[in-house]
Amino acid sequence: MVKICCIGAGYVGGPTMAVIAFKCPSVEVAVVDISVPRITAWNSDKLPIYEPGLDEVVKKCRGKNLFFSNEIEKHVAAADIVFVSVNTPTKTSGLGAGKAADLTYWESAARMIADVSKSSKIVVEKSTVPVKTAEAIEKILTHNSKGIEFHVLSNPEFLAEGTAITDLFNPDRVLIGGREENAGGLKAIQTLKDIYVQWVPQERIICTNLWSAELSKLAANAFLAQRISSVNSISALCEATGANVTQVSSAVGKDLRIGSKFLNASVGFGGSCFQKDILNLVYICECNGLPEVANYWKQVIKINDYQKNRFVNRLVSSMFNTISGKKIGILGFSFKKDTGDTRETPAIDVCKGLLNDKAQLVIYDPQVPEAQIFKDLSTPKFDWDQLGSTIQITEDAVAQSVKVVHNAYEATKDAHAICILTEWDEFKSLDYQKIYNNMPKPAYMFDGRNVVDVAKLRQIGFIVYSIGKPLDPWLKDMPAIA
Ligand code: UDX
Ligand code: UDX
Ligand code: ADP
Repeated sequence: MVKICCIGAGYVGGPTMAVIAFKCPSVEVAVVDISVPRITAWNSDKLPIYEPGLDEVVKKCRGKNLFFSNEIEKHVAAADIVFVSVNTPTKTSGLGAGKAADLTYWESAARMIADVSKSSKIVVEKSTVPVKTAEAIEKILTHNSKGIEFHVLSNPEFLAEGTAITDLFNPDRVLIGGREENAGGLKAIQTLKDIYVQWVPQERIICTNLWSAELSKLAANAFLAQRISSVNSISALCEATGANVTQVSSAVGKDLRIGSKFLNASVGFGGSCFQKDILNLVYICECNGLPEVANYWKQVIKINDYQKNRFVNRLVSSMFNTISGKKIGILGFSFKKDTGDTRETPAIDVCKGLLNDKAQLVIYDPQVPEAQIFKDLSTPKFDWDQLGSTIQITEDAVAQSVKVVHNAYEATKDAHAICILTEWDEFKSLDYQKIYNNMPKPAYMFDGRNVVDVAKLRQIGFIVYSIGKPLDPWLKDMPAIA
């Protein structure tokens, strides 16, 4: 029986290992983490992350060939294949602060693997890491190995949150990077391939050298984020000209060379990967003497920041340039629907912008816990571009101006304006007439996700702003926004 151990029971490690255990009954999978509450949750009925379909998969395998444990060293020592799926946040101080990945967790995991191993192992890089990390890990392992053989592979994960289980069941591709130049490397690649081939068609398993695999992950995320910044930049032009971004992106996406996916204009992209990976790419380019390339990719993040600012400015200018003391109902806080994850969610910057203009916020999200929202809004944001423009809101100010409630009707009652910041399905079918009746007039809707039926809401009486859609006559008459 092949034994797998995965270090890091997070958004990537947890679902990925659950699916491997589910699809490969002959493989024993142990997922280990330093966090005791996290492992306790994985072993309980309430899993630590919300992900459609995950509960069923975990329930089928847990206790049979899938185990969650804090006994890290024991499981690593017993494993044939060790996946490393620990967090790699952006460095916030020192060399490369704001851009480079912080590999502290990675390095400590690698040293521990070298320390406890008594038999040869394949070590698989699963977290997104800078190009050439595998090489650094190889060095740590071989210099501390006491004669044991280690083969390092890069096997980046492409799952998206909210669809992790379907993405893992039916991946567009599985990428395995390794030392193709030597027999040991080739054998390691084959061993990992033998796992995936149990449910993934052969032709979708791509084997490359280590650096191609590492760079492909960063490039894929950069390309995806770039599509969103591209369509978001066009959304600003649509509002200025009277074009409709949904019509434009649909027409553009019909070109098979472009494709129709990932062209939804929004208040901005969020999530733990896009900004972090692009900053990483930017840093690598700068370190390799490629400032033009670095600046090209930086612009993708700048447009994302611009889109969030634009949304806040549009709201404030539409409401007579003052939202001081006005109640604003916020629908959605997670970075996308079907996840409770708030990492880099555009809602944080938008809410901070509104709080900076002294609004009172009442927030509803179906999955994000109240404590998380309070924490996110009072945590200082790292100023990645050293522009000095990030807004910091104190814990006291957040406590005084923010309320978290448990349904959309409560959030919007007596609100001067509503902001939709996440595209949860339930926001499509709310009783907007009832909501309108419970709001002071004029009642505003600022739809940052193009969720509502603009014509229908205008008929009810709302003044509606929807990203990249032709402007309401009311908004057109308001002062121009920056
Ligand atoms: C992303 C990649 O999709 C995935 O392949 C990689 O492994 C991790 O990073 P994730 O961040 O989970 O996944 O979600 P994704 O669906 O890519 O959405 C990222 C952000 O972009 C969200 O805030 C989403 O709302 C936004 N988005 C997405 C848009 O604004 N418009 C779109 O058309 C698509
Ligand atoms: C383009 C558009 O494709 C077409 O839809 C529009 O109507 C007119 O402009 P064209 O300029 O004739 O058509 O050729 P295209 O195939 O798009 O190539 C344009 C340039 O891009 C060429 O120099 C081509 O060599 C280059 N190119 C194209 C690349 O460098 N890499 C690619 O992957 C594709
Ligand atoms: P991702 O989205 O990449 O999966 P997460 O932050 O959700 O990131 O998960 C990473 C997990 O890795 C966390 O649960 C964290 O506790 C765990 N972790 C970090 N360092 C170590 C380590 N040295 N040993 C074991 N687990 C670790």
